Amino acid sequence: MNIVVCVSGGGTNLQAIIDKIADGTISDTKIVGVISNNKDAYALTRAANAGIDSVCVSPKDYEDRDKFNKAFLETVDKFNPDLIVLAGFLVNIPKEFVERYRGRIINIHPSLIPSFCGKGYYGLKVHEAALLRGVKVTGATVHFVDEGTDTGPIILQKAVEVEPGDTPEILQRRVMEQAEWIILPAAIDMIAKGYRID
Ligand code: GRF
Repeated sequence: MNIVVCVSGGGTNLQAIIDKIADGTISDTKIVGVISNNKDAYALTRAANAGIDSVCVSPKDYEDRDKFNKAFLETVDKFNPDLIVLAGFLVNIPKEFVERYRGRIINIHPSLIPSFCGKGYYGLKVHEAALLRGVKVTGATVHFVDEGTDTGPIILQKAVEVEPGDTPEILQRRVMEQAEWIILPAAIDMIAKGYRID
């Protein structure tokens, strides 16, 4: 199964996928490309270090959203992927993209959906909201992407304890280590082995 991974930041989820393909946790899968909207994303360095083709397609380089959407879609199409993985990708997904690849786009969100998700909930903001609400358990979710924000069918979730004294940064790190970096590779392996939304 050929996958494209879309990134915007540090790329720790990308790194988990690279490592779990290498150690056989993820079967029958090859990362054929990494696409970032941010030319400074350390995820691009991780891709280069792993010898993976990467491309930066930034909305800033296009005069309007439609032109960016078209360029993004063409970039994805060129890799001819079986699956697209959004791993910390902070770009509004074009409707045409969801239609073209329905059932073949997955996303990792750093909470137990339906909590702390939807518009405005990304990165540290998710963990700030969880701490503000005082939840004792949070976690991460892998889901298929549909036209909404964090609304597609859920594939896997994993719970993580909130601990006294947690800051958003400490909680984010624990959710990454104990949940994201485990369930995103696991979901890719499930799909490589034939898992589909019924
Ligand atoms: C993380 O908070 C992750 O939960 C979210 O994007 C952020 C960056 O992840 N999906 P990464 O280190 O770039 O994979």
